[in-house]
Amino acid sequence: MQVLQRAGASLGRIDGLLRERSRLRPLDAARATTLPEGPLEMRFEGVGFRYHDADEDAPPNLRGIDLTVRAGAHLGLLGRTGSGKTTLTRLAFRFYDPDEGRVRLAGIDARDVPLAELRRRVGLVTQEVQLVQGSVRDNLTFFDATAPEAALHAALEEVGLGTWLAGLPAGLDTPVRAGGGNLSAGEAQLLAMARVFLADPGLVLLDEPSSRLDPATERRLERALERLLRGRTSVIIAHRLDTVDAALEELA
Ligand SMILES: Nc1ncnc2c1ncn2[C@@H]1O[C@H](COP(=O)(O)OP(=O)(O)OP(=O)(O)O)[C@@H](O)[C@H]1O
Ligand SMILES: [Mg+2]
Repeated sequence: MQVLQRAGASLGRIDGLLRERSRLRPLDAARATTLPEGPLEMRFEGVGFRYHDADEDAPPNLRGIDLTVRAGAHLGLLGRTGSGKTTLTRLAFRFYDPDEGRVRLAGIDARDVPLAELRRRVGLVTQEVQLVQGSVRDNLTFFDATAPEAALHAALEEVGLGTWLAGLPAGLDTPVRAGGGNLSAGEAQLLAMARVFLADPGLVLLDEPSSRLDPATERRLERALERLLRGRTSVIIAHRLDTVDAALEELA
């Protein structure tokens, strides 16, 4: 009876998930355009947005945002908590479409780019790194078994996790617990960067982790960041000016 009840509840949740409909505007095949290779320009034109579950009369979460980050340029973004920095990255990664204005990548309206292509060309490292139950390899490739072994090693090496990998009992096949229980916050963050490296995007959106890291880990992250951002367009969100300074100085 207990198992049956649990199964019933699970079925209900799966059913709910399958009923979810995307609010993104469907792709108009006649306008569909692919993004160019190399660093991508990111432009916001009069962007206004409000989360759909917010109160009808609540003010928008973003209003009249105009900004251009030239191809290959780096933008440091600072602002008080709740000001909409993360929301801005969600619009650029197209988790949502703006209510007003448009987001352009390399001059192309983001809504005219096939979603899979956009997600391949834009890399996002979120404040809370998502790790799934699986191996280190699965967490790097999201279960894409075709990713070449050498590329995985190179990506981990690139972010400074080479020694860490060498010390793992089963290498790339070492299990990672859901939520990254057996990884430190710094290692999880570096792993997320290695993920982005593998995808080789033209635009990187980086939301600084809210949890404080120790100074040594912070320096490792800065070094990884410097390699990650070279030759790409980037938006770096930080809570303190010196983090942005450090990252941009390395690149200057
Ligand atoms: N999923 C959501 N649904 C509804 N409202 C949200 C959602 N995410 C954020 N908000 C609201 O949108 C506003 C902007 O939030 P956002 O997360 O973009 O801020 P932030 O600048 O990234 O803050 P922090 O510096 O704390 O990370 C806040 O008022 C927040 O309450
Ligand atoms: Mg945020």
